[in-house]
Amino acid sequence: MSELNKIALQILSNGKGILAADESTATMTKRLDSVKVHSDENNRLLFRQTLFSSLSMKECIGGVILYDETIRQKTSNGKTISELINSSGSLTGIKVDTGAKTLAGSKEEKITEGLDGLRERLKEYYKLGARFTKWRGVYLITDKYPSKLSISANAHALARYAALVQEAGMVPIIEPEVLMDGDHSAKDCLVKTSEVISKCYEELELNKIDLKGTILKPNMILPGKDSKEKISCDEIAGLTLECLKNNVPSSVPGIAFLSGGQTEIEATANLNQINIMNNTNFIMTYSYGRALQQSALKFWSEDINNIIGTQKIFDHRAKMCSLAAQGKWSKSFENS
Ligand code: G3H
Repeated sequence: MSELNKIALQILSNGKGILAADESTATMTKRLDSVKVHSDENNRLLFRQTLFSSLSMKECIGGVILYDETIRQKTSNGKTISELINSSGSLTGIKVDTGAKTLAGSKEEKITEGLDGLRERLKEYYKLGARFTKWRGVYLITDKYPSKLSISANAHALARYAALVQEAGMVPIIEPEVLMDGDHSAKDCLVKTSEVISKCYEELELNKIDLKGTILKPNMILPGKDSKEKISCDEIAGLTLECLKNNVPSSVPGIAFLSGGQTEIEATANLNQINIMNNTNFIMTYSYGRALQQSALKFWSEDINNIIGTQKIFDHRAKMCSLAAQGKWSKSFENS
């Protein structure tokens, strides 16, 4: 087994998943503003450090994705954040793209940037303790989007990123996120997401990526958030599995979904159903940002010194997601 494959499996196996705590400072400021907490370096660190020292880290969180600011911070005990994460057996990850910018040639769409100087930045992140990385491409669904240009340009960038990351001895998370924004149907989401994912693997293969040393982070197949279509958990799981089975090479060890604007319970219930119905060899788990942090953030904002209380809320959510990653979750556990 290659070193990269070992890292990927360590992150995803045994009911573990990923805590995506890699919000950029601008996004984290929006999240903190929404609960009326001032966004400064200390408060951002305090909230994140509270989560990273929770009990559930050991059992439920195989990896944590950080933002550049956080990987350079130290806890109040003088440990680096990476040491804190590693102390519970979890691995440190880092977001390495520099954000989605306007795509020249299709101005309503985005292209993710960050390839310039990436080889050097990766060396530094490795020294700071990172063993895996994330790069997110974003795609919009409308009747004309995602365009062939955006599908091809983002897949190309993702593949070049992945090659540099593997060269640096780390596991790349490939995140092509087809957004929930809009009133499209679940069928549209299936068709467009399939096209996006299949193009990513075409480029990854061209760039000679060792797929066993990668993790895919896709969206689930859902109707757009303004669509009137209501579909069941079973249907979501069925469509999501169909998409992944048909477009992801079987050498990929695992898939860690983003939550993408689903509520905590929706993201948990859908992942659980995907695992109950899983007819593939892929590990199916979570790489959630909002769906792991939302309730904890709300609770913490009422008293930012209530560390234990905040950790209890986070531990519950992490435990529910971990059960879902094993197809063992039930709604009745939510109130216990
Ligand atoms: O890139 C997106 C994040 O890593 C996952 O965030 O679960 O809130 O969509 P989300």
